Amino acid sequence: MTTLTTADRTAVPPDASAFAALSPEAPDALLALIGMHARDERPGKLDLGVGVYRDAEGHTPIFSAVKTAEHLLAANQRSKSYLGPEGDARFTALLAELLFGEPSGEAFVGLQTPGGTGALRLGAELLARGAPGRRIWIGDPTWANHVPVLKAAGLTPAPHRFFDRARSDLDFEAMMHDLAAAKAGDVLLLHGCCHNPTGISFSHAQWVRIADHCANTGVLPFIDLAYHGLGSGLDADAEGLRTLAGRVPEALVAYSCDKNFGLYRERVGALWVQAASPAMADTVRSNLYALARVNWSMPPDHGAAAVRLILEDPALRGEWQRELTAMRQRIAAIRRLLGAEHPLLAPIACQQGMFAMLPIDGEAVRDLRVKHGIYMAGNGRINLAGLDEAVIGPFVAALMPHLGDRQ
Ligand code: LMR
Repeated sequence: MTTLTTADRTAVPPDASAFAALSPEAPDALLALIGMHARDERPGKLDLGVGVYRDAEGHTPIFSAVKTAEHLLAANQRSKSYLGPEGDARFTALLAELLFGEPSGEAFVGLQTPGGTGALRLGAELLARGAPGRRIWIGDPTWANHVPVLKAAGLTPAPHRFFDRARSDLDFEAMMHDLAAAKAGDVLLLHGCCHNPTGISFSHAQWVRIADHCANTGVLPFIDLAYHGLGSGLDADAEGLRTLAGRVPEALVAYSCDKNFGLYRERVGALWVQAASPAMADTVRSNLYALARVNWSMPPDHGAAAVRLILEDPALRGEWQRELTAMRQRIAAIRRLLGAEHPLLAPIACQQGMFAMLPIDGEAVRDLRVKHGIYMAGNGRINLAGLDEAVIGPFVAALMPHLGDRQ
């Protein structure tokens, strides 16, 4: 047998390559901002791109509760043997209690996933397994990865309105008008709180209307909760989900610990399915385990084990909650400062979570990046945690020409 040299390999005609049918993919536009910002050498550059929390010094700190839990793990963990496709069952159960306010019942299935994206993908694959090509309604705009993930899993995304760009605010009636076309068996993707990218959280009355609509039409809610605790607090941010779960027979919840535990790169998430009966839950569970097994076999353990230790220990849990509260309060303070700068920015003060949509177009986004070194998503979404009191002035000065005299 001869060993191929580099020259031999490059001599293979392109159409004889095993990858000849592939065409190059553009880099992910949101993640590309990380590199663009890093390469910019201007001292006053501002990163309002990817959704990671930053403190007033611009750092994304590790929660001290997480650090302590990691030390405990390093000292006390006795094995790294496999756990199974469901991951750390105690982690999932503790998180479910935090989320639903009570231990989950027998008609309920939960499993640990690699991040919230893993939970979304797994839930979507379960839905597509039962009904290939099933329609899923998604508010426009939404998180940039929602449509690609759900499509890749075999669902058919259908957009509905909910955001009035001119007012930078919720248009709930437009949403309900569009959802009147949803049919039994369709899925409705909802952000549990702190909508990404708009910062919108529904009121209790709006959640009740959504829940009643789902119950009356047979539309299945799929809630994505990636910002639990960053809106109004842990219980308040779960209220919509609890309202829905109490009024519909079946629902799915994808959860991420990226932001509220600061565990981004550890990939910590969970998926829960509320089934109509314990027997149906057993079928769902076996399908989820089988799907997890062919995707990632078992989720990574480290971050989930740290979350479990935090939730198990009252002192660590209290410390984590205090750190989360401080993050939430800092973001809310930035919202108030920015909202006071211009009437068109005023809704930002009342919205929640890490993100807000600026009422500007793609050209303005480009201009802010090229002329001022201000980086944000192409649709005008900013990560508010990237701002602080000291930079709001220069940021608004750069933004003002794009807001013009519009009120
Ligand atoms: C974001 O929306 O910026 C974050 O959720 C990061 C991501 O994966 O897109």
